This record gives sequence, C-alpha cells and structure tokens, in this order.
Amino acid sequence: MAQSNNVLVEVKDVKKEFVTSKSLLGKPQKIVHAVDNVNLKIYEGETIGVVGESGCGKSTLGRTILQLITPTEGQILYKGEDITGLRKEEMRQMRRKMQLIFQDPYASLNPRMTVLELIKAPLDAYKIGTEKERIQKVKEIMELVGMPENMMNRYPHEFSGGQRQRIVIARALVLDPEFVVCDEPVSALDVSVRAQVLNLIQDLKKTKKLTYLFISHDLSVVKYVSDRIAVMYLGKIVEVATKDDLYNHPQHPYTKALLSAIPIPDVDKKMKREILAGDVPSPLNPPKGCYFNTRCKYASDICKQKCPLLHDIGNGHLVACHLCDK
Ligand SMILES: Nc1ncnc2c1ncn2[C@@H]1O[C@H](COP(=O)(O)OP(=O)(O)O)[C@@H](O)[C@H]1O
Ligand SMILES: [Mg+2]
Repeated sequence: MAQSNNVLVEVKDVKKEFVTSKSLLGKPQKIVHAVDNVNLKIYEGETIGVVGESGCGKSTLGRTILQLITPTEGQILYKGEDITGLRKEEMRQMRRKMQLIFQDPYASLNPRMTVLELIKAPLDAYKIGTEKERIQKVKEIMELVGMPENMMNRYPHEFSGGQRQRIVIARALVLDPEFVVCDEPVSALDVSVRAQVLNLIQDLKKTKKLTYLFISHDLSVVKYVSDRIAVMYLGKIVEVATKDDLYNHPQHPYTKALLSAIPIPDVDKKMKREILAGDVPSPLNPPKGCYFNTRCKYASDICKQKCPLLHDIGNGHLVACHLCDK
C-alpha cells in the first residue's frame, strides 16, 4: 500500500444543503441535506472508497471537495491550506492538481471534438507548452490509457463505452494532477469491460503517484480498488475503516446490512443476511437522533434522541453508532 501518514485532503465539518426552488403553486422552499457534517482525512497515496446507496450524498461530497460545489458550511483543506476561501484565479490553479473522472462518458465528451482536441483542451486552457509539446503530451497520455495514437482524429461516437471512458481518464490526467475523484467511473460500462477499466485506474495510480477518492454504490467495486472505505448514509459518514477491517469486522448496523446484501459465491462463507427494512428516509426531512434509527433493529431510546458522532474504536476504525461506544 502506497499510503503515507501525510494528509493530502481534509474535510472539516462540511455541510451541503440544496434549497429547492419554489414550485409554481408557491409551496415553501425545502432544504435537501445532501452532505451533513462530514469529517474525513484523505492520506497521500491512498485510495479511499466512498460507498452508500443512491442519493446518500457521495457525488455531492466529491464535488464539494473539488470545490465544484461550494459547501454551505465547513472547510476543505488541501495540504493544510483552506481552499474554500480561495479566489477564482487561485482556485483555477489549484484545480490543476485536483481532477474528476465521472460516470457517463457520453455526457461528458463533446461530440464535435476529436479525441486530440478533447484531451488537449485542458493543456490549451492552462497554456501549457507549445502546440507541438501539447500534441506530444496527448500522445503520451493516450498510450498510457491504452488508446492507439492513430485514433487521435476520431470522434467520441466512433468508440465503445470502455474506450470513451479511457478518453475521459486521459483528459483528467493530462495536467498531471495529484488528487482524483473517481465518481462511479465504471458504473455505466458493460460488465465485460469494467475490470479492464478498473485495472487501468489502478495502474495509473501507481505510475502517476495519485491519490483517489473512489465513489461507487457497488461494494464489490469499492472493495477491489480501495485501501480504506467510508460508508455514507443520508449525507453522513457512518463508518470508516481499512478495507480488511470493514469487510471482516463491520461495526455499524448499516454497514453490516450492506455487506450481507452482496451475493457471495462461496457458500461456506455465506453470512446471515440482514435485510434492510423500510426505505431510506428523505434527505429533506432526516429523522431525529441517529439517521439510521428508523431502519435499525438494534435502535434504543438514545438512538432516537441523539445523533451519534464518528469516533475511533481503535486502530483508526471510525464508527458513528451509540451501540459501538468504547
Ligand atoms: N443540484 C441539486 N439540487 C437539489 N438537490 C440535489 C442536487 N444535487 C443533489 N441533490 C440531492 O442531494 C442528495 C444527494 O445526492 P448525490 O450527492 O447525487 O447522491 P449520490 O451520489 O450518493 O447518489 C439527493 O437527495 C439528491 O437528490
Ligand atoms: Mg452519485
């Protein structure tokens, strides 16, 4: 594991609320608590996975860290520097170091641009090198992501989903970033090419010495790539642990339920399934106390009253659950 003790990114008490606009009928505004008081340290060289059901705030957290969305409260520190207060030009320079690879390669690639133009665009925007050097850089990065350079003058629609995702990855890495948020980077791909793209993402991390925040709703994908994993529920992080700790010794009842829902090919290892009762409550109106108490079969009085804080139960294993108090 390439993980160091240096904190690259620190998320401090970050909240993101979206205010829904008034409807035509003049219904009052509502507030979506998309990310609710999140604290997280991301260490240089690690891949930290973020997992949780759809709508739990994973993408909002990733985008808030990159400052593509301004947090309602809290700070993002990058190498100790608060980047939430940066001015536009300072943030533009900072953004070179922080990139996003996202899910849908169809939506994110302009169909009128060639592969060369698409991958070269960030170099143009930051005026890096001469035209010749930029083209050279594009060729190098294309090779690195496994795209033959003779495909440079083709258009996105001429490629398969897997190849388009390679273009997206090349474009995100062409500026030599340090930190990359991968937001469901293989979720839109056919199962047959998922492993290839995941392996590519893993290989690039090593060659380019990257740090990843890797978002997925798919626990098996997160398990494959992550050093540590953070589990989110209704905008909050409920558990953080190393991959082995999380899979072998999950503590939070929600994590346990999530894990027991994954199909296990090995029959001997099959654990008792814990079926999650009820639906995820609305982030418009999260429950009082622990957000998970409405679905938790262990919930007691305190769980209905007080929201548990994320605390260390040993060896950096963090849990937000009253029942896991130490
Ligand atoms: N721009 C927005 N305006 C209003 N609500 C939003 C916006 N973006 C996300 N949300 C809401 O915030 C919550 C978290 O969304 P998101 O971060 O996309 O979750 P995830 O990536 O885990 O599926 C959801 O309830 C979603 O509907
Ligand atoms: Mg998402």
